[in-house]
Amino acid sequence: MKTSLPAPSSREIAALRARLVDADATLHAIRNGEVDAVIGSGRQGQVFMLAGAEHAYRMLIESMHEGALTLTADKMILFANQCFARMVKCPLEEVTGGSFRRFLSVTDRTLLRPLMKRAANTGSKLQVQLHATDGSLVPAQLSIRELANEGSKDVIIGMVVTDMTASRRTEALLRALTHRVVQVQEAERGQVAAELHDNITQLLCAVLMRSQTLADQLAISNGPARDEALLLRKLLGQTAAEVERITRNLRPGVLELLGLDAVLRTTSTEFTARTGVAVKLACVVLTARLPADTELALYRILQEALKNVQKHARARQVSVQLTRQRASVRLIIQDDGIGFDSEHPPVKRGSSSGLGLLGMRERAAYVGGVLSIKAARRAGTKITVSMPLPSTPKTSTPSDL
Ligand SMILES: Nc1ncnc2c1ncn2[C@@H]1O[C@H](COP(=O)(O)OP(=O)(O)O)[C@@H](O)[C@H]1O
Ligand SMILES: [Mg+2]
Repeated sequence: MKTSLPAPSSREIAALRARLVDADATLHAIRNGEVDAVIGSGRQGQVFMLAGAEHAYRMLIESMHEGALTLTADKMILFANQCFARMVKCPLEEVTGGSFRRFLSVTDRTLLRPLMKRAANTGSKLQVQLHATDGSLVPAQLSIRELANEGSKDVIIGMVVTDMTASRRTEALLRALTHRVVQVQEAERGQVAAELHDNITQLLCAVLMRSQTLADQLAISNGPARDEALLLRKLLGQTAAEVERITRNLRPGVLELLGLDAVLRTTSTEFTARTGVAVKLACVVLTARLPADTELALYRILQEALKNVQKHARARQVSVQLTRQRASVRLIIQDDGIGFDSEHPPVKRGSSSGLGLLGMRERAAYVGGVLSIKAARRAGTKITVSMPLPSTPKTSTPSDL
C-alpha cells in the first residue's frame, strides 16, 4: 500500500532551512577551528570535545608565524592554522579536510612518506618547496612528529611548517658576501705577489750578486771578512727563496699553468721540506682540467689544512688524497696529530683565529662543494671535501704521484 507523506508546511520548511543554515555555520566553525566543543542533539545533549581545542592553545597556534597542521596517516588535513593557509594562498576552509599532498611536488611526496612513518619515534625534518595555489613555490621546512592520540588507534601527525623564504634570501646574501670577500682576498694576494715579485725579488737578486762580488774581491788572506760575506750571500739566497715561495703561494701561477695535480705535489713536497712532517700523496691523474674556481678552492683548502697541521696538530704524517667519482672530485687531508673537538672547535679571542675552518667550508660551498671535518681529541683530523663537476672529463686510473 502506498502512503504519501503530507506536504510540509511553510513553517516546517522555514525551520528546516534555519537548521540547515545552523549546521552549515557549525561545520564552517569546526573547519576554521573556532569551536571548542560540539553538543550533541541527543537526549542527554552529549558534549564532544574537539581534539586540541583548548582556547588558549588555539590562540597560541593562531598567533604563530609558522604553519601548524594535524594530519591523518594518509595526509588528510584535520586542522590547519591561518598562517599555513596564507602560506599556500588557499582559504582555510578549503585546506581543512583536503590532502596535504596537493601542496607538494611528486619528489617531495616521495621523500615525505618514510618520514611520516618514522615520526612516531624520532620526529623528523624535511626541506620542501610548497606549491601554493597561485602557482608560486614557497621554500619551507616541515617538522613532523606523531602526536599521542590516547584511546584511538588512528595515528595523528603534528606538523610545523616554517617558511624559509627570508632565511634562504639571507643565506644567498651571505654566500654572495663571502664570495666577494674571497674574490677581494684573491685580488689582494695577487697584488701583493706582484709587488713582491717586481720589487723585493729584483732587489734581493741584485744584493745577492753584489754580495757574491764582495766575497770574490775579499782577499783570501782576509779570511773572517770573506767568511762573513759568504754567509751573507747564503742568507740572502735563503731569503730570496722564501720570498719566492710566499709569492708563489699568494698567486699560484703554477696552478693556472700546470693544474691541480702538479700543485698538490709541489705543495706537499715543500711542506715536508719546511716542517719535517711526511706527506703521503695519492692522486688520480686528471687528464682534463677542472673548472678554475674548483681548482683554486681545492688548492686553498689544502693550503689552509696544511697550515693547521703545522700550527696545531703535532702530527708525524699527513695523507693527501685526490680521487675522482663519476660526477665529482674528492680531496681528503688527514693527519695523525692531536686532533680537537670538532663539535666545539676552540675559539681564541682577539685575532682572526678560527676563520680557517670557516673559510674552507665557504670556499667549498661557493663552488657547490661540501666540506666535512672529522676530528677528535688525540685521534687526528680528517678533512673531506667533495666538489661536483659540470661535465665528465676523462681521467686515467688512480696512481701514486
Ligand atoms: N689539524 C688540526 N689538528 C689539531 N687541531 C686543529 C687542526 N685544525 C684545526 N684545529 C683546531 O681548530 C681551531 C680552529 O682552526 P682555524 O679555524 O683554522 O683557526 P686558527 O688556525 O686560526 O686557530 C684551531 O685553533 C685548532 O685548535
Ligand atoms: Mg687555521
